[in-house]
Amino acid sequence: MVKRKLREPLEDRKGTLYFDGISTTELAKTYDTPLYVLSEKRIRDNYNRLYSAIVNNYKYVRIYYAAKANTNLNVLRILHSQGAYLDTVSPGEVFLALSAGFTPDRILFTGTSVRNDELKMLSNANITINVDSQSEMDRLLKISVPQILSVRVNPEVGAGHHSHCITAGPESKFGLWEEEVIQAYAIAQRARVERFGIHMHIGSGILEVEPYVLAVEKLLSIAKRVHEEVGINFEFIDIGGGFGVPYKPEDKDLDLAEFSSKVVSMFKNKVKEYGLGKPYLFVEPGRYLVCDASILLTAVNSVKVTPGRKFVGVDAGFNTLVRPTMYGSYHPILVANKLTAADKETYDVAGPVCESGDLLAKERKLPEIAEGDLLAVLNAGAYGFSMSSQYNSRPRAAEVMIRGGKAVIVREREQLKDLVTNQKIQGES
Ligand code: LLP
Repeated sequence: MVKRKLREPLEDRKGTLYFDGISTTELAKTYDTPLYVLSEKRIRDNYNRLYSAIVNNYKYVRIYYAAKANTNLNVLRILHSQGAYLDTVSPGEVFLALSAGFTPDRILFTGTSVRNDELKMLSNANITINVDSQSEMDRLLKISVPQILSVRVNPEVGAGHHSHCITAGPESKFGLWEEEVIQAYAIAQRARVERFGIHMHIGSGILEVEPYVLAVEKLLSIAKRVHEEVGINFEFIDIGGGFGVPYKPEDKDLDLAEFSSKVVSMFKNKVKEYGLGKPYLFVEPGRYLVCDASILLTAVNSVKVTPGRKFVGVDAGFNTLVRPTMYGSYHPILVANKLTAADKETYDVAGPVCESGDLLAKERKLPEIAEGDLLAVLNAGAYGFSMSSQYNSRPRAAEVMIRGGKAVIVREREQLKDLVTNQKIQGES
């Protein structure tokens, strides 16, 4: 009998995996698989932990949840009730934010390659924009001069769990470089923009504090130059998101106390030293708030042994969770109905998509698996459902949330009819 180290809200009750107090095998029976299961409590705990760590060192802090990680309306509403603000990247995310009850003054837009009609929509809705290029700023100023404007800076330091997720530094398409930044604020000021913020986001899945130290130092030195050379004050300084969560067994938690003592304290001191007043410190976590607040349940269809490998065929593939295929990401997997069985076999966990890259895990040590077993893919709350697709014409999964000790459906499973939505049959065949 194996005793596994499980983190909240996971629990072993007599060999069955419970999530936030509810049996995963019961959930799979009631709602079918593949199924995303979310924990309201864990989202709130994650928010509170991060907020307290920062606010202890600097009072003027706001958390802008990066909606792209998980846009379920219930997730947005829970974070709204916690006092969160929202970082959005598309008109669709703005629409969802408004639908969840966020007023425009609580929404920030940090797009890239933004269209004119999108800028028009944002400016009509009075949403604060972080511009990603001089082109975007020029086009925005032609549409209308916003009251408040922010520029996304490339602080020349990037970090992240995969090259696709490093969003600053020499290779990055994001943000403006130092000299351009100074000019951009001067142009905005001449156009009579009156209020300003400044922004960076260096990447995603960062477990060390050091990249933040370097990037925030650079951002603040640029803010100081803008303040001195252009003569403007910043209402907010946004240091982006990227706070990592451990996925692999050897990963360590991001040390929030260290983050706060090194990054937040340095922020506080430098802002004072540079005479930047008392700007709000914005952070934009996506993953940190929702990642471990959700698991993906998937049932085993088949077990197949070839001369080279052992495959477990499950009903969730990269149509349901693309991260392993797209970034080679590791997600912990548990056999939810055999928690206490020892890891005796080495499997590739494959989905139902007709591509060889459709693997949720490669060479994973797991208990002996049989058809009908239930697997739980952990850390599925961030960039799980939000990146899922209908590829291979499979309707998207359902989502349930554990609220107040009960499971409630928060997104219905898509149906076959959803596959023909928006299609039009034209002409004779
Ligand atoms: N702010 C901005 C401007 C961003 O672009 C992002 C994420 C965030 C905040 C939040 O980053 P987080 O705190 O979640 O790391 N699909 C990838 C992650 C891409 C993140 C893109 N930008 C993944 O599954 O790992």
